[in-house]
Amino acid sequence: MEFGYFNKGTREYVITRPDTPTPWINYLGQKEYCALVSNTGGGYSFFRDPRERRITRYRYNSLPADRPGRYVYLRDNRTGRYWSATWQPTCGAAAASGYECRHGLGYTAIRLERERIVSSLTYFVPAHENLEVWLLGLVNLAPVARQFSLFSYVEFCLWQAVMDMQDFQYSLNISRADCLGSTIYHLTPNPSAAVGFFSTTDTLAGFDTDREAFIGNYRDESAPAAVEEGRSRNSRNRGGNPIGSHHLKVTLAPGAQRQLAFVLGVAADKSEAQAKARRFTRPDFVRLELERLKAGWLDKLGNLQVETPDGDLDLMINTWNQYQCRTTFNWARSASYYESGIGRAIGFRDANQDTLGLLHVDAAAVKARILDLAANQFSAGDSFHQYFPLTKKGDRRGYSDDHLWLVLSTAYYIRETADLGILASRVAFADRGSATLYDHLLAAIRFSARDTGRHGLPLLRYADWNDCLNNTGSASESVWVAQFFCYASRELAALAGLINRQADARRLLGAARCMARRINRCAWDGNWYVRMFDQRGRPVGSKKCRQGGAIYLNTQSWAVLSAVADRQRALRCLDAARHRLLTRYGLKLMAPAYRAFDPSVGAIGTFSPGLKENGGIFCHANPWAVIAETMLGRGDLAFDYYRRILPAALNGQAEVHKTEPYVYSQFFAGDESPEFGRARNSWLTGSAAWNFVAATCYILGVRPQAAGLTVDPCIPRRWKGFIMQRSFRGRRYHIEVRNPSAVSHGVQSIEVDGRKIRTPVLPLVKGSKACSVKVTLG
Ligand code: GLC
Repeated sequence: MEFGYFNKGTREYVITRPDTPTPWINYLGQKEYCALVSNTGGGYSFFRDPRERRITRYRYNSLPADRPGRYVYLRDNRTGRYWSATWQPTCGAAAASGYECRHGLGYTAIRLERERIVSSLTYFVPAHENLEVWLLGLVNLAPVARQFSLFSYVEFCLWQAVMDMQDFQYSLNISRADCLGSTIYHLTPNPSAAVGFFSTTDTLAGFDTDREAFIGNYRDESAPAAVEEGRSRNSRNRGGNPIGSHHLKVTLAPGAQRQLAFVLGVAADKSEAQAKARRFTRPDFVRLELERLKAGWLDKLGNLQVETPDGDLDLMINTWNQYQCRTTFNWARSASYYESGIGRAIGFRDANQDTLGLLHVDAAAVKARILDLAANQFSAGDSFHQYFPLTKKGDRRGYSDDHLWLVLSTAYYIRETADLGILASRVAFADRGSATLYDHLLAAIRFSARDTGRHGLPLLRYADWNDCLNNTGSASESVWVAQFFCYASRELAALAGLINRQADARRLLGAARCMARRINRCAWDGNWYVRMFDQRGRPVGSKKCRQGGAIYLNTQSWAVLSAVADRQRALRCLDAARHRLLTRYGLKLMAPAYRAFDPSVGAIGTFSPGLKENGGIFCHANPWAVIAETMLGRGDLAFDYYRRILPAALNGQAEVHKTEPYVYSQFFAGDESPEFGRARNSWLTGSAAWNFVAATCYILGVRPQAAGLTVDPCIPRRWKGFIMQRSFRGRRYHIEVRNPSAVSHGVQSIEVDGRKIRTPVLPLVKGSKACSVKVTLG
């Protein structure tokens, strides 16, 4: 069943029914101001930090669902009937609502047709502004003139989201909001002395800044007393719950149209707020800003575009996957509809991985992020697990993998940019002293090399990538971290070679070889690699495990990625993963699921079988298997795995899948769950960046290397070819791959601007900013 469709031309996802199985949302704003908006107007906004600078409230996991949001009520003053322009919160029959929601790049537009009035409400955050604009269009389809009262509505958060939910005896006595002219000010004191403002185009017929006054007692947003009566209370909030509501009177002649704008934002003081309000409540100016925003997005996406025989892949790679990558880069796992913005901050490992999805568009932002992350590392080489963007404060629970991800992100960055200079950047450690980024990376490797257990493998410590194989005791060892260590050591050895640190390179390669030997000696279980050794030295992820967890996916895929497995073992362990973990909706993270909590493996057993790490289909881990399959040259399998979790390919199964078909979710329930196939935790997930990498660098095989761009596809045999347009180091490549012999991989010839080249690295013809590349497989 479908709730909408992709409009390829406008790069929008168009939702045609408001009652989607979960709220289907969009993220507006790319820098400091962020607005989450659902397909029925729900959501909230924050500025820089979702915990410390929350602008509007949101009631997570509450009923009615997905409230509050950014609402405009329309009240026909002749009949007294009213509804909201976003379907929620007044709702009404879903099918008969004339409803359409278009989620676009940086904007969301919701259209409704009720009682012969068409309303369209477009939300967006203009580039480089700390505010959001709502552009409201009205059309009167009736042959008679109509008189409407419009009521806008937002509920302010008292800035600090934790305090806002905790200590009401205090917080509800500090709030303050007021109205001056057409601008409502949120004046609750806050550490950064920011002022919230909410303004509109027209002169007001009334206003409210106090929730109880506007909504009335024992009511909710679906039937505010003020709207019902068509009369604002002109309330001035002094304690209690501050809101912003403008009351505007609008008369529409038969067939007439009208546009109005509302602007909500933060400013240093009232006069700055007033200046912004004046500019962004002019509908003509606002329309221009919206066009600028769209053009900016198109420009960014243009850095990498593909045409392949698979339309769903094209939709994702050309638009939605790239779009999601930017969002995960911005907010890691902190603020979504499933992460409240107060518990989880910017995760060190997550943020490093998220950089991979942005490199081809904004390497400068990635560089800044890498250096920022390095400053969260300790001189011993380990790092904070996560930190809040504003305070930069984090926690040091002791994960065994976090610091190694910094090597991976730096290596990817250098392959994209050739900017070896980053290695010489001096960065302070979180505890004491400072060092070059290169020395930070060496410290990361050194930390894991020394922190080993009885098999000589890195200690698991609190946990590794799998957050829920945790707290298992100080002697547990992680086979996966051992593999990742091999990978990171080789990556760093390659970087060391590039900056003439040959001795380091040799040492690093030696360390990787030694660790690989240990893994192959103690962790090969006959057909696959075990996942870890528990406190007592027993293998986890082994055929010996009778209580669950006989095989885990990651130690199979990473055995290949890290080059720890020889070809024979690589084939065997990936085949074992396929036989034991593959489902209709992708590869499970492990199987069988644990039935109960077992302290020797940690929290994983607390999830119901099939959910999350306990036998769920982790969309983040699937692309590693895709990459591994391409490394073995099995293009049909790689693409099959890729498609099983491809959001656009699941558009027709929304009743099973439930989350947005235009973005990745963290996981699908595995086949041991009664809800097999149900996705959870959409948007903020490492799945975005890794699926992008798997598709573009490994399936399509256009891979940045230190020496330049290489092309080495591994595609389904039935594909006749594909095209990729790729900007790289300031140049533009038009790459056409042909597959006349129906193979998966193997480059027979490469022509650049009509001339055959012998190396796999694409040169750039002198003096030219663009070149055409023809690759023939065979
Ligand atoms: C979530 C976390 C990520 C972790 C993964 C597996 O996606 O954000 O950091 O690696 O779960 O536990």
